[in-house]
Amino acid sequence: MSAASGTRTTEVAAAAPALEVTDLVVRYGTSRKARLAPPAIDRVTFDIRPGETLGLVGESGSGKSTIGKSVLGLQPPTSGTVLLHGRDITKASLKERRGLAVDLRVVFQDPYSSLNPSRTIGQTLVEPLAVLGVRRAEALQRARATLESVGLPADAADRYPAQFSGGQRQRIAIARALVCDPKVVVLDEPVSALDLSTQATVLNLLADLRDQRDLAFLFIAHDLGVVRFLAQRVVVLYRGQIMESGPVEPVTQGPQHPYTVALTAAAPVPRPAEQAARREAREALGFRTAGVAAPAAAGCPFAPRCPLVTDVCRAERPPLRHAGDSLSACHHAERVPSLRPVPVP
Ligand SMILES: Nc1ncnc2c1ncn2[C@@H]1O[C@H](COP(=O)(O)OP(=O)(O)OP(=O)(O)O)[C@@H](O)[C@H]1O
Ligand code: SF4
Ligand SMILES: [Mg+2]
Repeated sequence: MSAASGTRTTEVAAAAPALEVTDLVVRYGTSRKARLAPPAIDRVTFDIRPGETLGLVGESGSGKSTIGKSVLGLQPPTSGTVLLHGRDITKASLKERRGLAVDLRVVFQDPYSSLNPSRTIGQTLVEPLAVLGVRRAEALQRARATLESVGLPADAADRYPAQFSGGQRQRIAIARALVCDPKVVVLDEPVSALDLSTQATVLNLLADLRDQRDLAFLFIAHDLGVVRFLAQRVVVLYRGQIMESGPVEPVTQGPQHPYTVALTAAAPVPRPAEQAARREAREALGFRTAGVAAPAAAGCPFAPRCPLVTDVCRAERPPLRHAGDSLSACHHAERVPSLRPVPVP
């Protein structure tokens, strides 16, 4: 790491959080059955500082998007709090949310379905500015400047979504998120639909924009390699609970939780021979995937799949505690290195 980036890391760590999520619980549905089922999100806590990317990883259905939706006010939390620059927005009214939409923006995975095909890019970008009362000429000027800042020509404003490639459309979605000068951006799998080389250019663009504008990113992804590229810290989620959290390097290179070991071993690599070697190493670790029963509500959610499981794991939910440079929710974190983790390349 260069001296300049070291200084920047220190500055980021010293800043007050832009976003604080504390003890978030989300249940879908209000029926008796839904109330008895495990919540989709179960006591999740994290914060993000200006200029920082927090990666949120976990397999499909682990609850990543639900957390993003709760932050954005699209899915009301059952309990817990969400603070934006110290202001409690957990129960913000619809009217307050409209005001918040300036500071808190989102980029989704599929730019095509999130862009209106019958509106020009300019019309789409000026929409949030019009809500803010910005006059049309100024709004259009800001839209063009923002398009240029994401590497698109200013005349992209006069064209329609179908006239752009997938990577360009994702740049447009990023421009739409940034046109109001937000503080926090939720990025829900923003590069998952793109090919590898386009992923790299969009990730580089996001890193530059974050640093230039001091943005706080909640970066949702299922691929730890992608998270490693952009995030400074990472939260690993399984069945709505945090399994491990910490700085991205130790978590991806020396995980302290069996689930993170499974996730790092499953990270895709472009070279087939290396992929085959990683698959073999992964199989040797002894994780169960097929035919496992649901975990006991009182115990560790990963118990049915874990090679290190013991009786205490089935009986008691492990609290998050320090292990190496991370926090790990594992009764046997000290035994995790015995799994010989397969680091993310
Ligand atoms: N609208 C909904 N109603 C009921 N259950 C839902 C709803 N949305 C999500 N869930 C459930 O909540 C859990 C978390 O879903 P979520 O979409 O947050 O996962 P995810 O980690 O984003 O998955 P993916 O990687 O597939 O996008 C899943 O069990 C899912 O079935
Ligand atoms: S608490 Fe037990 S079952 Fe859960 S991850 Fe740790 S060792 Fe595995
Ligand atoms: Mg999702």
